[in-house]
Order: sequence, then structure tokens, then C-alpha cells
Amino acid sequence: MKPQRLAGATLGLALASALSLLTGFTWADAWSAEDKAVLASLSLDRLPPAPRDPSNAVDADPAAAALGKRLFADTRFSRNQAVSCATCHAADRQFQDGLPVGKGVGSGSRRTMPIAGAAHGPWFFWDGRKDSLWSQALGPLEDAVEHGSNRTRIATLLMANYRSEYEALFGAMPDLAGLPADAGPNGTVAERGAWQSMPAHRRHEVNRVFANLGKAIAAYERTLHLGESRFDRYARAVVAGDSAGQAVLSAAEVRGLRLFIGPGQCATCHSGPLFTDQHFHNTGVPPRDAARPDSGRAAATARVEHDEFNCLGAYSDAPKSACQELRFMVSGDAASLGAFKTPGLRNVAQRAPYMHAGQFANLDEVIAHYVASPAAALGHSELAHEGSGSVHRQAIRLSAAQARDLAAFLHTLSGPIAETTRSD
Ligand code: HEC
Ligand code: HEC
Repeated sequence: MKPQRLAGATLGLALASALSLLTGFTWADAWSAEDKAVLASLSLDRLPPAPRDPSNAVDADPAAAALGKRLFADTRFSRNQAVSCATCHAADRQFQDGLPVGKGVGSGSRRTMPIAGAAHGPWFFWDGRKDSLWSQALGPLEDAVEHGSNRTRIATLLMANYRSEYEALFGAMPDLAGLPADAGPNGTVAERGAWQSMPAHRRHEVNRVFANLGKAIAAYERTLHLGESRFDRYARAVVAGDSAGQAVLSAAEVRGLRLFIGPGQCATCHSGPLFTDQHFHNTGVPPRDAARPDSGRAAATARVEHDEFNCLGAYSDAPKSACQELRFMVSGDAASLGAFKTPGLRNVAQRAPYMHAGQFANLDEVIAHYVASPAAALGHSELAHEGSGSVHRQAIRLSAAQARDLAAFLHTLSGPIAETTRSD
């Protein structure tokens, strides 16, 4: 080393220690310009308004949101009169239920997902088998283990209880007189038979009412926004060079954040202000039922393609050219076998258990999974493991102390959920 470089380094060190004595700041705390850009990209300040849904004309209509909010909590739309969307998506529990798998009229096989922020993504459910929030909302109503109801019953209930609100938004209700009380294409054998015996134009009318109910619920869901977390305050302080503001995170939490965006490789999938890339990945999470592993995204693309309530269907308000996601959807990709939607991580510490079927009881188990990186039961895990030879990823190696720091960091992502009437 040349003497003047040595002198420069010594001077730098002397300055650094003087600075750290004065402010408690050490060079080890400094973020590189590249890291700062990553922190900024994860912060809520960078979240654009959710895109408008071209397939839902009342997407941003406050009257639709007000109607949707009431429908969301109405138990009359369920077979046993006891289940509403809010049963599983409870406002005081991050709009989920804290159970490993959802429980409605019966028990499901996947975990209830939180709803705030959902309007930002193009695909819904763990496997993305729906392409809009409104068509998503129609699924549980007819699902045997969720609301367990059927289409004509739902349309008739809507007419009896919400007719004026409905007509103000969507125009005149069709004449539902003389329809079978219980009929629908996804119901019991008798309900399916009754549905098939209805003339096509009357089925179409009921479908339209059913779709509009979903559109009102979607307008409500869109008003649920994620609020600022301690991480956001920290990121803002880092970007602004405000060292006092950075005290909002502890040293352990900051170490965890470094692991999250660095060697833990978490931010490669949990990216952007919602901590999700909105894509589907196989991460080798063991199936809840080993005898019937869940094929995830692989089975969903055909379903969304053939869904009568998709963006290209008769009940969509979108011109076909606006349905880019669906038209250019990747299907038949081997990587989709056993792949699930990357969940956003905001408020994650408050909603154990984790994964698509609640396989892990706490965040320590989640992190241990990433370190163990087991082979997938179906398809191939994208995570690298020792000797996997992956060129894109390295094995996630974390000491016990680092795993604790990473978990501590995940706790900094909690913030309030606000219902707003703003139209984004
Ligand atoms: C029995 C419990 C239960 C009921 C009732 C229920 N859900 Fe869900 N919800 C779930 C489960 C479980 C999932 C994930 C299912 C899957 O991926 O197959 C889910 C997923 C969702 C999602 C997807 C979120 C995302 O990010 O992809 C939304 C939105 C949603 N539900 C809204 C609703 C609405 C609206 C209703 C009422 C019409 C409703 N849910 C009724 C359990 C329930
Ligand atoms: C290859 C993409 C990928 C990487 C890398 C990744 N994740 Fe995930 N993460 C996912 C997917 C996909 C799921 C859902 C998997 C499932 O349910 O089967 C998930 C689920 C989770 C969950 C559960 C959230 C919930 O609501 O159930 C947490 C917590 C989590 N990841 C944290 C991390 C951390 C911490 C790291 C880094 C050590 C990480 N992830 C790395 C894709 C990834």
C-alpha cells in the first residue's frame, strides 16, 4: 500500500471514530447508494394508486363501495345464514382470520388471505385463478365450504334487500319472478339441474346481477389501504440523511433489513412497496396433506381462461384490448407447478400462521424453511440449496442470530389499515 493511501485511510478512520463518538454513528451503519435505492423502492411513499380495473365500471364509485361494505358483512348470503365475507376476513384481524385454513359453512384447504392492498395485483387467490377483485368475490358465495349459496338465491336476496342501492348504480333489476329458489352452475346436483332448465336469457340476467354484486364488493375492497410502518419511517430517514430519524429501528432490526435485501435474497421476490412481485413461485413449502399436494398456479391458468366472469367475458366492462394480463397470461409453464402467489409482507407479524395452507406457526419456522430449502413435493423449488448449482440464486445461509434479526425486521412492517373514500 502506498504511504499516502495509508495516511488517507488513517485519516478517514480517525474522522470516522470522531464522528461515531459524536453521533453514535459507525461506518458499518452506512447504506450504499444502491441500498438506499432498494430501501426507497420498498417504502410506502413509492406505492402508486391501485390501477383502475377496466372490467369494473364502478370500481372507484363511493356509492358502490358503500353498498359493497354492507354486502361484505351480510350473512344472509350464506346457506346457514351465519357466514359473510367478514367472517373469514375480519377487519380487526388484518381482514383475515388467523386460522391455518378458512372455515365457513365447512372447512377449506387454503389459508384466508388479507385483503388490504389486494387491488394492486393482477391475480387473486393463492393460485391466481381470478383476474379481478369482482370476479374473485363471486367464488366464495357459491363455494360449498364458504358461503355455500347459489346464484338465483343470491340475486333474489339482493333484490329483496338492496334494490334501490343496486338500481341507482346498475340500472333496473331484471324480473326475477318465477325463477327456481335455488339454482346455480356450481351448486348441488339439484341446483345445477334447476339452473340448466332455465332459459339462457334468464341465466344471463341472473349472472349480470351476480356480477354486479361482485363489482360493488370490489369497490369496497379497494378502499382498504395499508398505512405507514416503522420501516417506512426508517427508509424515509435514510433517504433524507436524517440520522436521528433512523433511531426508529433498533440495531437488530436494521441488521435484519440488511439480510432481507442482501444475503437472505428475500427482496428478490418480496419486492416493491407491498413486498411482493405479484408473481407465482414454487418455494418448496410442504403440502398440508402429503397425499394430495396442491398444484397451485398450474391448475389455475385454465380456470381463469375459461371463467365466464373474466376480463374478456360477457359481464366485463372492459374493451378486449384492456385485458392485457389475461390475454398475455403465461400458461403451461412447468415452473407454475406447485407455485403460489408471493404474499405481501406488510403486517405479516400480526397474521400467523403462514403460507398457503398455514403450514408454519410462526416467523421463525418460515425463516427456518428458507434456510433448509427442502425439495418440493410437486414441481421444483426455485430456492437454491447447497450443491443445487443454481446460477440465479445462492443457498440462503443464516446463523441462528441472523435468523432472529431477520424475524425482528419483519416486525417493523406493521402499520394500520385505513378505509378511505379516496378514489384510488
Ligand atoms: C370460509 C372463509 C372465507 C369466506 C367466507 C370468504 N373468504 Fe375470501 N378467502 C378465503 C380463503 C381461504 C382465500 C384463499 C383461497 C384460495 O387461494 O384458494 C381467500 C381469498 C380471498 C381474496 C384474495 C386476496 C388476494 O390477495 O388474492 C379476496 C380478495 C377475498 N378472499 C375476498 C372475499 C370476499 C369478497 C368474500 C365474500 C364474498 C370472501 N372472501 C369470503 C376465505 C374466505
Ligand atoms: C423465490 C421467491 C421467494 C423468495 C426468495 C422468498 N420468498 Fe417468501 N414467499 C414466497 C412465496 C411464493 C410465498 C408463499 C409460498 C406458499 O404459500 O407456498 C412466500 C411466503 C413468505 C412468508 C409467509 C407470508 C404469509 O402471509 O403467509 C413470509 C413471512 C416470507 N415469505 C418471508 C420471506 C423471507 C424472510 C425471505 C428471505 C429469507 C423470503 N420470504 C424469500 C416467495 C419468496
